[in-house]
This record gives sequence, C-alpha cells and structure tokens, in this order.
Amino acid sequence: MQFSERVRSLISQLTLEEKAGQLNFLVGDLFMTGPTMKTTASNKFDDQIKSGEITGLFNIYGTEYIHRLQRLAVEESRLGIPLLIGADVIHGLKTVFPIPLGESASWNLDLIKKTARAAADESTAVGINFNFAPMCDIGLDARWGRVAEGAGEDPFLAGEISAARVKGFQGEHLMDEDSLAACVKHIAAYGGAEAGRDYNTVHLSELKLRQTYLPAYKKALEAGAVTVMSSFNDLNGVPCTANEFILKKILRDEWGFEGLIVSDWASISETIAHGTSKDMEDATVQCLKAGTDLDMMAEAYLTCIPQLVNSGKLSPETLDHAVGQVLHLKEILGLFDDPYRYGNLDREKSTLKSEEYINLARQAAEESIVLLKNENQTLPLQAGKQKIALVGPLANNSMDMNGTWSFFAEPNDPVTFLQGFQSKQPEVEYAQGCELYESTEKHFAEAINLAEKSDIVVLALGESAVMNGEAASRSEIGLPENQLDLIKTLKKVGKPIVALISAGRPLALTEVEELCDAILITWSLGTEAGNAVANLIFGEVNPSGKLPVTFPRSVGQVPMHYQLTNTGRPYEGDYSEPRSERIYQSKYRDVQNSPLYPFGYGLSYTTFDMSKPELSKEALKPGESITLKTTVKNTGEREGTTVVQLYLRDLVASVTRPVKELKAFQRVKLNAGESRSILFKIDVEMLKFYRRDLSYGFEAGDFKAMIGMDSEQLLETTFSLFDEG
Ligand code: NOJ
Repeated sequence: MQFSERVRSLISQLTLEEKAGQLNFLVGDLFMTGPTMKTTASNKFDDQIKSGEITGLFNIYGTEYIHRLQRLAVEESRLGIPLLIGADVIHGLKTVFPIPLGESASWNLDLIKKTARAAADESTAVGINFNFAPMCDIGLDARWGRVAEGAGEDPFLAGEISAARVKGFQGEHLMDEDSLAACVKHIAAYGGAEAGRDYNTVHLSELKLRQTYLPAYKKALEAGAVTVMSSFNDLNGVPCTANEFILKKILRDEWGFEGLIVSDWASISETIAHGTSKDMEDATVQCLKAGTDLDMMAEAYLTCIPQLVNSGKLSPETLDHAVGQVLHLKEILGLFDDPYRYGNLDREKSTLKSEEYINLARQAAEESIVLLKNENQTLPLQAGKQKIALVGPLANNSMDMNGTWSFFAEPNDPVTFLQGFQSKQPEVEYAQGCELYESTEKHFAEAINLAEKSDIVVLALGESAVMNGEAASRSEIGLPENQLDLIKTLKKVGKPIVALISAGRPLALTEVEELCDAILITWSLGTEAGNAVANLIFGEVNPSGKLPVTFPRSVGQVPMHYQLTNTGRPYEGDYSEPRSERIYQSKYRDVQNSPLYPFGYGLSYTTFDMSKPELSKEALKPGESITLKTTVKNTGEREGTTVVQLYLRDLVASVTRPVKELKAFQRVKLNAGESRSILFKIDVEMLKFYRRDLSYGFEAGDFKAMIGMDSEQLLETTFSLFDEG
C-alpha cells in the first residue's frame, strides 16, 4: 500500500513508543465482550490517550463522551492523532434488526443493505466510525453458537449478503458522515471449529477452505470493505492471527487486499496458549510479520515493539507498514480533516429509533420469519374469532427479542409477542408455562387451564439471547427438555398448537414437528419482534422467509448442509424398506440422511407452481451463456412472495463436486393467480471451481441445472460445456 504524504510524514515524526501506541486498540469502559486484561473506568484512558498509548477505543458510544476523548487525543497528545472508535454493531445499534442469520432468511439483499445503512447511520450519530461487521464465517455445525451472527451455510448466499452488508455500512462514500468502516471477519474459517466448540481448532483441506469458507469473505472485500479481522482459531496448525498463508498469501497476494488487519480480542497473546509462540515478544514478532496490523486487547504490541525494534528483532519497515495502515484508515475516515465528524447530538435525536428505522425493523423482522409447517391451514389466525392462549417463556419477554450482540440496545424496547398479539386482539390471554430451562407444576397448571378454555394455543419457545452467539456452543440443539415437556403436556389438552421458535442456529425440531400443527421460526427479531409476528400470525403479512441453513433431524447429523458430495455409496433407499437391505450404503441406522427442513425452505399462506426449466440452448462455450426460463405462478388465493433458486451440478470433474450448489436466486412477488417468467443467465463463471491442482477454472462436460423454491423439491434439465476448440 502506498501511503499518502500526510501518513508518511506522521510516521516519520512518531517515536517508537508512539508507533506502538498507534497499534494498541482497547475496549472502552461500557461493555466487555471478552476476557479483559485490565479494569476500566470512565476517565481511565485519559492519560494513555494524551501520551499516545492508545490508537482508539471500542464498544463505547455517545457524542459527548467520544468528543471528550477525541479532544484529548487531538489537543493534548503530542501529534494530535485522532482516535478510532470501534464497535460491534452486528444487527443494529438502538434500533435492533433481526440477528444476521434471521435476516438472511429474507434473501432480500436490498433490505439487508438498508438495515446495515440504518445501523451505520445510528452508529455514526453516536460517534462510532469502525464497525466489527459483517461476520462472513460459514458455520456448517449448528452446535457453534456464532452461526447466529453469519449469513448461513451457503457460500454464494452468504457472499451476496455479506457484500450487501458492507455496502450498507460503508455507504456511497466512506467519507460521508453516516458511513463507517466495515470489517470482514473472522479470517479464516472460524466457523469450521471442531465439534462446534467456540474458539476450537480448525483442520481443513485447502480445497474445502477455498470452496466453502473463503468465498464469502472475498465477496465482502470485493464490495469494498476496508478492514479485516483475523480469527481466534488455529487453521491447519497455525493460529490465524499469525498465519502468513491466510493473511499474506491469500488476503494480500491473491486477493490484493490492501487495508488494515485487526486481531480479534487478545488473539495475539493467545498464540502463546496455542503453543506457537513462547512469550509476548515472540507473539508480537510473529503476528506483525504475518500481517496483523492492529492489536485488539492483548497490549502485546504496546509493550514489546520498542524493545524488539531496538534489539533488531523486528524490522522498522514491518512496524511502519502496520502504523501506516492504521493512519491510513483514520485518513480515509476523514478523521484528520475533522476529528469530530462522527458524533452529532442533533443526529442522535433524529436518527436513533426514528420512525423510519422502526418501520424498517418491522419489515426486516416480517421477512425473516420462516413458516415451516402449517397443517390444515392452522395459520393465519382469525383475529377476533378464536380464543387464543399465548404461552411460553418467550411470549412476554422483551429483552431476549434483542438477541445476541445487542448491548447498545435497551432491554425493554422490543415489542413482546404478547403486546403484538394484544394490539390485534386485546382478549389474547397469556400464561408463562415454564422458564427457559425449568418448569414448575404451578406454571404448567396455569398453562393447561388457559389452554382448556381456548380454541388454539400459541407457544413461544426456543433459545434466549444468550443461548447463541459468541461462547454459546451447545452439545444438544433441540429445545430444552422442559420446554418440550410443556408442548407434550399441552398437546394432551387437544387444541391446535402453533409454535413460535426463537433460534440463533438450526435447531433439531423433530419432536416439535410431530407435536405442533404450525411452526414459525422467529430467530431473535429485534425491536419490532412482537408486531412482526402478530402481523404474520393474523395474516396481515404473508410469510416469505426461506431457511439460510439446513435444519437437521438430530444433533448426530451435524455438521449438516445441503452441498453434499455424492460419495461412492450414495444411499438410494427411501427409509420405508427394511434397514438391512442397503446396509453398506452411506447412511445412519437410526435417522434418515435427509434434513428435517432443507436449506432454502419456507412456506407461504399461498401456493406457487413452477414450470419445467427451459434452456435457450443445450450447450455453451467460454464467453457464451445460456438462458434458463421458468414460469412461476401464484396458485393460491392471496398475494405472496417466494424465492426461485437455481442450483447447478457438475456431473463429472477432476474433484468430487457437490450434488447441488446455489448459483442464483430471485425473490418474486405475485398476486393471486398471477404468473411471471423468470430468467436466469448461466455463464461459464458459474461453472468454475477449484480443480484437482487447486487452480480455479472450469472443466468441459455435462451439467445439471435445477430450479425450485427450496433445495430439495427441484425441477431439472441438463446442458453441456465445451472447450474453446
Ligand atoms: C471477540 C469477537 O470474536 C469479535 O467478533 C468481536 O468483534 C470482538 N470480540 C470485539 O468485541
């Protein structure tokens, strides 16, 4: 990276200690999001800011507070270098949008970009200029709690969504007062943690790494993200914060990323625990050399750099490059021109929880909800015509609606399900039924009593905000036992049961599916949770969400995702036959191979039909494309939206290829009875993959094209790709 005259001049004026200070990034005194190495208080940082020991603080907010700190940096430190103000604004600041996984179920890139824009607007209004999002990690293992923060299991969909988020955060111009720096995290393959245990080791073939885990980060960077966060995990034996293969070879050399790389929380010093560096000095040298520019929370760079340079163990060039990266970020954020440009009391008033953003939060919540089951058209409910019992630990619960990573938000802001229901039908009655993990006879008795005098029971169950997200791995991924007991108990009352399931991961819902008449996945929906759910439940809004992750039948199936390879012994039975017959095929003895609900799945109150795919021609050559056409019809009685999905399969290749890969999709809104032709362009770019020698390209041959409204019910056709000659 060629730094500007201003940056180079500053580098030449900084002392070694001040350079180390520019690489020292600490959490502020408002929220802890990891183990801390120091105690904090609100004026704790004043001296360090004045002496140039801190480059910035994160997870603080508020114009007055941040401007006070900026003033110390600008007016009272030797060179007057302004502060970076970072934050984890993962799904909204004060207006909370659905958790990222939930919002990904909308498959609505415009909407996702808008919620990221709104988050950037609110964040910059309170003084934040650097957002640690989007998280682009692919998590195939539902035990991993951070699946909640990502965009699902599919590299293509996650890439599109991550790019939309970057564009939303960074806006038209990074210099605009309502734009902030996005951070593509966590590089690399953090979601591949063994056994789904957070922070755990990742071992991956380079093929799998490139094919599945890297594309989403890459797309987010191509969308213009100016920073990257390295991940906690070791990858194939090397902690990512000190991993030259990832940070240098892939990120810098192959992808040409020129921006700043920040470590994750103390991940520089954690290389000692990993066992690849012997002390802080060793960790500092290794991480800086590998390309980690900025030290979040380890204070290793601050304490070790001067001595390392003086003793010749660290080259001044390596140090200056890292310092230049930090100063460059401050420069492109406009902080040198106006250190007070982020944070504005008038904007705080006009943007935070504005009507526009609350409406957006409701739309996002509505489009995120996924209808998984609706037997006998149990839903929508008829407002005013049915006696409704609303039961469950999440029915009258505001705080948990905010979900994971919502510490800037107010715990009592979210509209509860009960409030939402009662706004449509004031007579809706409520019983808690049980706690999240525990039950009492009294609670059960109240719920039974209420169910008996009602026509229908709506149960709000699932995960609380802390049951997913960072450090929230689970070895069981069903509902807590006591919640399941509540369903079983109420089932005996004999009324239809609707389940509203809060979740930050794909849950194993086999029993829930058997016991309930209708099921909606409601993730953690944010500020407008209750209104959004009520709008769907009472039919004012038609569900349109589609799963961005595969829901397994049991935890024993995970890691589970739809992009399977065929194996040499694909199971060909239908599970109704005796178990012994196809015993030497790839399957379980106790559970089907198939998921409970596949990737891309989600029902509507209307029905859609799709015609067989037609191709404009049967073969293509490099430089050409084929158009695939289908006609989608709304065959039901009300307007609705579905997502038409295109999957491809390379039938014979030099490496085993997934039996289907999502390559394109279109959200389609149709009135009752309306039909529309949908066209997909298939070109050679879509047919490229990492080949046996790990080069990226296509191989001539036959392909299958499949279209559908989920990843299982597909209509297919074939085409061929010829080489140039
Ligand atoms: C640790 C998390 O892994 C990361 O995503 C987050 O940005 C930092 N903590 C800062 O809170």
